[in-house]
Amino acid sequence: MLLHGTLSLPPRSSLRFRSPATHHHLRKFSFAAAQHSYSISDEDLESRGFLLRRTIGDLNLDHLNSVFVAVGFPKRDTEKIRVALEHTDSLLWVEYETTKRPVAFARATGDGVFNAIIWDVVVDPNFQGIGLGKAVIERVVEELLQKGITNIALYSEPRVLGFYKPLGFVSDPDGIRGMVYSRKNKRN
Ligand SMILES: CC(C)(COP(=O)(O)OP(=O)(O)OC[C@H]1O[C@@H](n2cnc3c(N)ncnc32)[C@H](O)[C@@H]1OP(=O)(O)O)[C@@H](O)C(=O)NCCC(=O)NCCS
Repeated sequence: MLLHGTLSLPPRSSLRFRSPATHHHLRKFSFAAAQHSYSISDEDLESRGFLLRRTIGDLNLDHLNSVFVAVGFPKRDTEKIRVALEHTDSLLWVEYETTKRPVAFARATGDGVFNAIIWDVVVDPNFQGIGLGKAVIERVVEELLQKGITNIALYSEPRVLGFYKPLGFVSDPDGIRGMVYSRKNKRN
């Protein structure tokens, strides 16, 4: 999917926070739009124990790998993940203050000027549905736009299209279709 135009988010929104310790208790919060029209401000996230991190210094990659596996991604070599992250331009993860563990993550690679691709968008299943995925994507996209990068793409599983569309992404923009190299389809 490709980011279409600029982000247009509602001026006010509501966010449901599910207490990780007691998953049954839904709490509803509303908040004013922040500086970048984020659905939830950095301060609101922090007040709920979710700390935004943009470097991998404090990121335990085994814990991150566990989140990948928990959402169904194939388990990857942690050292290879480290190399991938070292070659990543924009990265954002959310640390849950209580456990110090990553609970949400996304990263973008690209040429630093024109194009970027967003990868590895995940939220720990225990923390899904409370706005963390949206918070992470909004910020990664904003950081890319601030750098002047407007061609922002990502791969989406069909079941997640509805998550990305309100965030400004469209499928097959102007009929353009994505293609990926497939060794088994290559002739000779
Ligand atoms: C997809 C994922 C990142 C969403 O993160 P999340 O924190 O659960 O989502 P949020 O709570 O931020 O949801 C934001 C909005 O998207 C909606 N949404 C979330 N997942 C959705 C889905 N699969 N389809 C349609 N809408 C979805 C929410 O209802 C919410 O809507 P609202 O703003 O109107 O209230 C997360 O569910 C996840 O990690 N899934 C497994 C891994 C995965 O599929 N990653 C994407 C790879 S392509």
